[in-house]
Amino acid sequence: MPVSMLRERLSEHRARRRANKELKAATRERFRIRLRRFAGHELHAEQLTQPIRVAHITDQHVGLVTPHKVQVEAVDIVNREKPDVVVLTGDFVCHSHAWLDELTALMRRFEAPVYGVLGNHDHWAGAKQVRRALRKGGVELLNNANTTITIQRQTLQLVGLDDAYTGHADRDKAIKGLNAKLPTLGLSHIAEEADGLWNAGVPLVLSGHTHAGQLTVARLNEWTIGRLAKHRFIHGLYGARASDGIHSGAVYVGAGIGAAVMPFRLGDRGNREVTLFELGARPGDLSEHHDEQDVVPIPDDHDEEAARAFAKERFAQRQAKKKKKR
Ligand SMILES: [Fe+2]
Repeated sequence: MPVSMLRERLSEHRARRRANKELKAATRERFRIRLRRFAGHELHAEQLTQPIRVAHITDQHVGLVTPHKVQVEAVDIVNREKPDVVVLTGDFVCHSHAWLDELTALMRRFEAPVYGVLGNHDHWAGAKQVRRALRKGGVELLNNANTTITIQRQTLQLVGLDDAYTGHADRDKAIKGLNAKLPTLGLSHIAEEADGLWNAGVPLVLSGHTHAGQLTVARLNEWTIGRLAKHRFIHGLYGARASDGIHSGAVYVGAGIGAAVMPFRLGDRGNREVTLFELGARPGDLSEHHDEQDVVPIPDDHDEEAARAFAKERFAQRQAKKKKKR
């Protein structure tokens, strides 16, 4: 074989290897799951003698759009961190019941006790079936309810709101019988429900729904989730974790693991995310991804009642449409 041909083949081989390497790196980046850590609220530090580690995942959207190996990897990351409890803040499915067996199996993979609340996609797909699949997987759902769990001889109180986006949240029902002296953590798919829970004595609320905007370069997510979708909380930590004697609080919006429509995620904030909260640690005790952020301003006043009525109406319309199709 002439030398020129040999050179050509060698260069082709190198180009192919380079392309493969780049493809592998791109895949790794696409599947990347960030592990973020935060301290809890100061009130937790006052109430707990031993720290409690809570792992938070949201918006798993088990289904076609998100590779199942990403789902498994997220659960494995949680297990490696050995949390005392795992909390999930909704959107377990995408659009149907097609992946409920996989969802059940995934839930069984968690090694710590799991608690959760539903999201809008779970209601759209059929809450009854999603609830059944989750219960089969060992998840305790808090449908506008609260409960207590014992961890290292300490009691942690969990409050769960059903999905506010589809009009299923009932705060009064969820907080009924809460013990104000116990360390408490709130769960709500929609972060905008946090203020109401702070007023009821829940100092920290974990949530999801926004997927952090998924495309977060050049602060594009602030425009799409803030200005267009009118969410005050886009991604990360907002509010105050200082215990100042009045009812104030913080809310955390997780970036989520999956997606229901568009699989792409761009920018650090848009990466898939597992979050660990060290309840009992004071803010500043550990290195955190960021401090409490300012709320993103919304151009018009967000009328909560009107938004809820609109969401309820939209939910009813979708259900009617589904019924008609059947
Ligand atoms: Fe979602």
